[in-house]
Amino acid sequence: MNQSALEELLAKMTLEEKIDQLLQLTGDYYKGSDISTGPSSYMKFEEDTVNNTGSILNVLGAKKLKQIQTEYMEKNRHKIPLLFMADIINGYKTIFPIPLGLGSTFNPDLVQESAAVAAKESAAAGLHITFSPMVDLVRDPRWGRVMESTGEDAYLNGLLGAAMVQGYQGESLSEEGTLAACVKHFAAYGAAEGGRDYNTVDMSERTLREQYLPAYKATLDAGCAMVMTAFNTVDGIPATGNKWLMKDLLRDEWGFEGVLISDYAAIAELMAHGVAEDGEEAAKLAIEAGVDIDMVTPVYVHNLKKLVDERKVSEQLIDESVMRVLQLKNQLGLFENPYRFADEEKEKEIILSDEHRNLARKIVSESLVLLKNEGALPLSKNNQSIAFIGPYVDSKALSGLWSIHGDSDQVVTLKQAVSEKVDGSKVGFAKGTEILDPDTKISGFAHEVEEKEFNPEAAKADLQEAVELAKKSDVVVMALGEHFIQSGEGGSRAAITLPEIQLDLFRKVYEVNPNIVVVLFNGRPLDLKEINEKANAIVEAWFPGTEGGNGVADILFNDVNPSGKLSMSFPHSVGQIPVYYNSFNTGRPLKKGEAGHRFQSRYTDIPNEPLFPFGYGLSYTEFEFFDFALDNKVLTNTGKLTASITVKNTGKYAGKETVQLYIQDLAGSVVRPVKELKGLKKVELQPGESKTIEFTITEEMLRFYTADMKFESENGKFKIYIGSNSDMDIFEEFELRK
Ligand code: BGC
Ligand code: BGC
Repeated sequence: MNQSALEELLAKMTLEEKIDQLLQLTGDYYKGSDISTGPSSYMKFEEDTVNNTGSILNVLGAKKLKQIQTEYMEKNRHKIPLLFMADIINGYKTIFPIPLGLGSTFNPDLVQESAAVAAKESAAAGLHITFSPMVDLVRDPRWGRVMESTGEDAYLNGLLGAAMVQGYQGESLSEEGTLAACVKHFAAYGAAEGGRDYNTVDMSERTLREQYLPAYKATLDAGCAMVMTAFNTVDGIPATGNKWLMKDLLRDEWGFEGVLISDYAAIAELMAHGVAEDGEEAAKLAIEAGVDIDMVTPVYVHNLKKLVDERKVSEQLIDESVMRVLQLKNQLGLFENPYRFADEEKEKEIILSDEHRNLARKIVSESLVLLKNEGALPLSKNNQSIAFIGPYVDSKALSGLWSIHGDSDQVVTLKQAVSEKVDGSKVGFAKGTEILDPDTKISGFAHEVEEKEFNPEAAKADLQEAVELAKKSDVVVMALGEHFIQSGEGGSRAAITLPEIQLDLFRKVYEVNPNIVVVLFNGRPLDLKEINEKANAIVEAWFPGTEGGNGVADILFNDVNPSGKLSMSFPHSVGQIPVYYNSFNTGRPLKKGEAGHRFQSRYTDIPNEPLFPFGYGLSYTEFEFFDFALDNKVLTNTGKLTASITVKNTGKYAGKETVQLYIQDLAGSVVRPVKELKGLKKVELQPGESKTIEFTITEEMLRFYTADMKFESENGKFKIYIGSNSDMDIFEEFELRK
């Protein structure tokens, strides 16, 4: 359809029909019950509304969606097709590592490929739009949703968020196997106070603009079709009713013309927040902020008409929102083909294909981060006896909380993967314990969570079996972690250790065999103090998804050399949170490694640095950096500098290193971070091979929000750091003279 046809269509619609286009319902209202992620059962909708609603969420499957669309179109007076949206976060059926794991790849190309596969599979299953990427910047591992983020750095989040958008949307939405992307949660949801989900966010506009907003902007620059609001407040006003954020900034300043959807029930929540006394006030706030779609609440459909009739809200606003929804439907080609790419045959052919699984396996191995290795790794396939112990040894629950459409049956466990690689006489497997302490209560989230009766006798026998196995083995691999339900939405934790029952297993095994490799399955940085003190080696595996077991085994046995890097710092303990690499110096900085004195900015009981910093991750080989050079010591605003460094693989194995560029502005009109990531390059090197890496530095890279809130650079001195993680001392200096 062209724009004038859309306008004609809009002109034919009644006000009620228009308002219904702005409602999103769960699938429950259509065919049978489906997945819903929040409280919606209390909401009652008229049949007319259901027959006219604009979109539904979280129902998938070509057959089902075609049927829903057919029945809907028969009843809909204007034959306006429904939009189908869902949370395809780290894959549809082929599940990739959780986004925090994807962040650890530091590899935008692979992340883009994973998104393209997710789009292909779910587009064949009839989906139009995914609620991804989530680019909330995160600094607090108590917040369960850090698993949905790619980490603590604005630049990396922007790079990977844009890669996801490109992967989902392809060159054009008319291309087969594409989805429209919806970036979320706008804005700053990642800064929920105390890491408690849905909690207040309060920060300066400078921090908001400099740290939190750029990644959302990067996805919009990549063409992201939609934006979702956030549950939190921004400077005292909930994002979903925040006119400054949504109109002044998102629409007017950034020029976003696409559809803005509320998060789940967030318009109704304006009442609970205490900025709206009733539904009418809530509807007015949200529509005036420019929120087009009301996700699953009756607030718009029950109040907007009255507000327009009483001239409290202009019909023009409704028309603008409806037009954006119609334009999106049109952009997706739904008026020509309301089923779009839904195709049962295609579903069978491509879902979980070898190609998709192979890609997933490759990405798993790039997302694993080797945190410590005193020689226990890599394992040998034939020269040692290996005990695999822990509740994750033979678990299929490897996909993380958002894999709500995945089939756990399809997951390859670590035990299955190892059994394929290694002669059975060399390895033994024992669960040792359940994942959770018997008194930990868990509740589901779109998943059935199996709750088992605790049987002390069986628990004792499991433990005993594990200890006996450890005793007679040369090395023990312990597969430990959080329950997947402990992270993700609503998964805030005040203590971020492993469950006590697993620590107990670890201690008992350690007593009989301290040669332990710990492999961790979890959705957040954990407090690893005890594990780090005792284990010989630690591999962070996140929730790796369908090919999890294979990807982990590839790393353990050095079929793939680890190359993952942390995209979020691991704290020493909860008391250090928030801890992130791009902090300020303070007026009394403590030098790394120094004990310092009382009147310095420090803790008296732990170091200032995190246990494992941003950008950190080991390899089985060694990389040396040398010949760091700048081609000029002065940068002008028309010129550029080239920083170069040579990286050599001085170890025994081929491997990949992520070369990271950080810049520090030594003195500005406002304080500046001690360093900020400005570039990265992943290089693969054979043993003995070296490569020279170059980074171009331009004036734009040095801009920030000055004391006057202008986004510009300031003359003066800068330091450039290049190396293998954010905690490095090798630097060069230059001066900006504009
Ligand atoms: C989450 C969103 C999600 C939405 C739809 C909300 O609870 O915050 O991230 O996209 O539900 O399922
Ligand atoms: C403290 C002040 C104190 C001053 C003089 C500073 O280090 O922060 O509170 O008044 O020393 O003793």
